[in-house]
Amino acid sequence: MFHKVMAFDDLVPGKPYLRDAEGVRFVLVREGEAVMAVSDLCTHAAAVLDRGRVVQGIITCPMHGARFDLRNGACVNAPYDALRVYRCRIVDGQVEVDVGANAD
Ligand code: FES
Repeated sequence: MFHKVMAFDDLVPGKPYLRDAEGVRFVLVREGEAVMAVSDLCTHAAAVLDRGRVVQGIITCPMHGARFDLRNGACVNAPYDALRVYRCRIVDGQVEVDVGANAD
């Protein structure tokens, strides 16, 4: 089930936003005209990723530097588990996220 989380125009590209729906917390990131949502905790040692840096679809954990692909959640520089990825859509200018299913 999709939930409205914020207006698309309020998202600064490349800036992670911590949000929640149904008690599930996630990080929302806009890149260009696309928006992606992944679980908020790094799979290495549970740092919160809303302070991570985003470059070209990759978010870097602020704690020890694990890098995760926002499109599929995969960790690209260490053998850590993938982040969970949530489906997103934009309806009438509002970003909606489905925390009940993986995007892939
Ligand atoms: S907690 Fe994220 S890399 Fe260690």
